[in-house]
Amino acid sequence: MFQRIKQFYWDITSKFKSIDREFVDRYLYDEDKVLFYQLKKAEQHHVIRVAKNAKNKINELITNVDENKFMRICLLHDVGKIGGDLTVIDRSILVLANKLTKGKIKKYTNINKIYVYYNHAHIGADLLKKKGYDEDFVKTIRYHHSEGYSRDIMLNILREVDDIS
Ligand SMILES: [Fe+2]
Ligand SMILES: [Fe+2]
Repeated sequence: MFQRIKQFYWDITSKFKSIDREFVDRYLYDEDKVLFYQLKKAEQHHVIRVAKNAKNKINELITNVDENKFMRICLLHDVGKIGGDLTVIDRSILVLANKLTKGKIKKYTNINKIYVYYNHAHIGADLLKKKGYDEDFVKTIRYHHSEGYSRDIMLNILREVDDIS
């Protein structure tokens, strides 16, 4: 609960805080930045916090994680939130669900936002795959909200720090 309040506070104040461009420039290539800067400002702040917390974690744990790569993955982990283009089938399902609930879904937010919220991990993974990013990016981002144990150290750290960032 306290985490939620903190995240809410970060989100509403993020408009007034500037992005740590030095950090972004240190890790991201130009092609990464094209994606990164399409995120909303609050999301940009969130993924930077995630990356910084993840960096502390790998330094603490003494792992053989490739820091540069992991930082890029962290900074792009919510990149699916910039997309949100619905397929025809997705849209039909949502429209139907909306009908069945007599528009109750819509009351909370618009339908596209609901879709992106629940599917941004897969949307982001598919987007990066299409752009030629390697398996580490695609896999880690695809499963960052999935349940269940993983042997993958980057995925585990990302899941852990995502919740507190
Ligand atoms: Fe996410
Ligand atoms: Fe996230």
